[in-house]
Amino acid sequence: MKHFKYTDGNKRYHTLDYFYKNKFNSKVFKVSLNAGFSCPNLDGTKGTGGCIYCSKDGSGDYAGNPCEPIQEQFNKILEIMKKKWDSDKYIAYFQARTNTYAPLSILQEKYEAALKLPNVIGLSIATRPDAISNECLDYLEELNTRTYLTIELGLQTIHEQTSNLINRCHSLECFTNMVKELRKRKINVVVHIINGLPYETKEMMLDTVKYLNRLDIQGIKIHMLHMLKGTKLYELYQHHPFHILTREEYTDIVCDQLELLRPEIVIHRITGDPKEDDLIEPKWLTKKFGVLNEIDKELKRRDTYQGFQKSIFNKTHQIIDHQVKKNDLVIDATVGNGYDSLYLLDIITEGTLFGFDIQEVAINNTNKLLHQHQKTNYKLFNIGHEHLLETLHHYQHKISLIIFNLGYLPNGNKNIRTKPNTTIKAIDQGYQLLNKKGMILITVYPDESNKNTTGKEEEQVLLKHLQEHYAHQYTIYHNTDNPKAPYLIQLKIEN
Ligand SMILES: C[S@@+](CC[C@H](N)C(=O)[O-])C[C@H]1O[C@@H](n2cnc3c(N)ncnc32)[C@H](O)[C@@H]1O
Repeated sequence: MKHFKYTDGNKRYHTLDYFYKNKFNSKVFKVSLNAGFSCPNLDGTKGTGGCIYCSKDGSGDYAGNPCEPIQEQFNKILEIMKKKWDSDKYIAYFQARTNTYAPLSILQEKYEAALKLPNVIGLSIATRPDAISNECLDYLEELNTRTYLTIELGLQTIHEQTSNLINRCHSLECFTNMVKELRKRKINVVVHIINGLPYETKEMMLDTVKYLNRLDIQGIKIHMLHMLKGTKLYELYQHHPFHILTREEYTDIVCDQLELLRPEIVIHRITGDPKEDDLIEPKWLTKKFGVLNEIDKELKRRDTYQGFQKSIFNKTHQIIDHQVKKNDLVIDATVGNGYDSLYLLDIITEGTLFGFDIQEVAINNTNKLLHQHQKTNYKLFNIGHEHLLETLHHYQHKISLIIFNLGYLPNGNKNIRTKPNTTIKAIDQGYQLLNKKGMILITVYPDESNKNTTGKEEEQVLLKHLQEHYAHQYTIYHNTDNPKAPYLIQLKIEN
């Protein structure tokens, strides 16, 4: 995957496997242990009855037997695991119920016992954001200096209405504060969320991820809601049915969420693993690898990856990759510091790039960058792009792609920027140079301004011009709903 660096090749998201392999130079397995803790949402401290989807085992269905000592559980699980996989590094995973919910001395006893087990290189502790005391935080801080510690916090949704419905019994504020407390102590934070919670829309699920993306978290677990026998959730469903996501809907939502998430965030899970006998809906969840394959296939079909929505340039690069061939003639109408030119030259190894900029410093910067990368198949013009046609009249109908990156030179003089009239003039002229399959890509910065022109003004003149002269030939791509953010316009030749 050319554009996604946290992968060995086929995955388009930052898998836990990849993360562990790079961090510990080996495969690492999480061994689920059950310390027999309770939950403040069961015993009345925070609430009673627990979260409405929670199984009788407290979401620790694959964990060890709480009646057995930690060491015995560990050995038994390892024996089973070793039949399937080989690994010599382990993370002890306290999974079932709320694993910081006990007096400090008991927590210490359990965690320290796990740390003494052979080849255990870290601890993962699943808990609720309202169940970590200050003294426990201090202990975790110290523990974090001795081992690779991760705290997994359940959030499930940022929406208070759903949170009340599923009986979470803690607020979003409480969660956010706990993330901050843990990060103050440099402890790794992984957050659990659930897609398909009753009455939530796709937009709500995406909003949960957008919110988390802004927090300093290191990992995320994305689950599909399991509806299990004997849960309050199933009762609710029987009396007030709600939509159960299909596998296609779930795949679509997860792929959208991955595109939004910062690429550094490790994806610990992307689908659940419920016990088939207990599962009422959705049945498709039992085919875990089928779900994983669908997600891989969908990202490939979209040609996107985790973090794709982070920058509009990812969309620009995606279009360029599909559009430009190695012997094409292309134009960079605003070379600036030369990065777009370099991107194009990496593709057109046997073609030619023509670059324009009104600033000498931009031409020099670009020459320097391209020279550093041993590029020779290009020609730069220190003139305005409003002279495109007269400069390149020999190339009429021969150009595959023209890019405009409007605005001012990054790290340069902000008072020199593209202007509405010269921009539309250049677009009209460039259009005449395009071949039958040619296109123009324009990155617009509505929020930039200088003494003479604002980005907003240029944007408005440009959109009006496109509407009047190329009404059905252009597409606009946004990567965020922020009206001030840069966005992309793709203008295609009329066929
Ligand atoms: C946002 S920068 C381009 C950044 C560049 N694509 C890069 O990768 O570094 C915009 C550039 O447009 C140039 N510019 C402004 N008016 C121009 C015009 N009429 N013709 C050509 N270039 C122009 C500016 O000098 C500035 O360097």
